[in-house]
Amino acid sequence: MIKVLFVCLGNICRSPMAQIVFENLVREEGLESEFEIDSAGTEGYNEMCHAGIHRGTKEILRRKGVPFKEHYSRKIRKKDYDYYDYIVAMDSENIEDIEYIVGADREGKISRLLDYTTHPRNIKDPWYTGNFDETYDDVLEGCEAFLKSLNL
Ligand code: 4NP
Repeated sequence: MIKVLFVCLGNICRSPMAQIVFENLVREEGLESEFEIDSAGTEGYNEMCHAGIHRGTKEILRRKGVPFKEHYSRKIRKKDYDYYDYIVAMDSENIEDIEYIVGADREGKISRLLDYTTHPRNIKDPWYTGNFDETYDDVLEGCEAFLKSLNL
């Protein structure tokens, strides 16, 4: 079982999108039984209100025909580091924040999603850019490259 945790700041825009897009790719490849997939954020403020997926993320997923269930934001915990095999962040600030919470990346589990592609970069936060189309394209590119990198 490969355990994957996608992580962003608020866990309402990018990381739930990555979780859902990756789950869908895995399902299309018939690999569901190989994976446990979840997402979390580095900030606690949404956990307080247990926020659902941002409407912009839901809209683009519907437009792209990607099925999804609701996800409620939660903050990454120290114990997630031991539990998950891959902790996949959306940007380099997320990586700093994750390491602040879980400690140093002793086992090399933390990566940035678009570092699996031929054009490593951050995924911009649509909470600020409002551009969920761009986020979706980046997330899909990263998830495809990440899945390929696992050589299953
Ligand atoms: P995300 O976007 O990290 O992609 O989920 C954000 C969501 C909420 C906030 C910031 C970023 N916020 O400040 O509440």
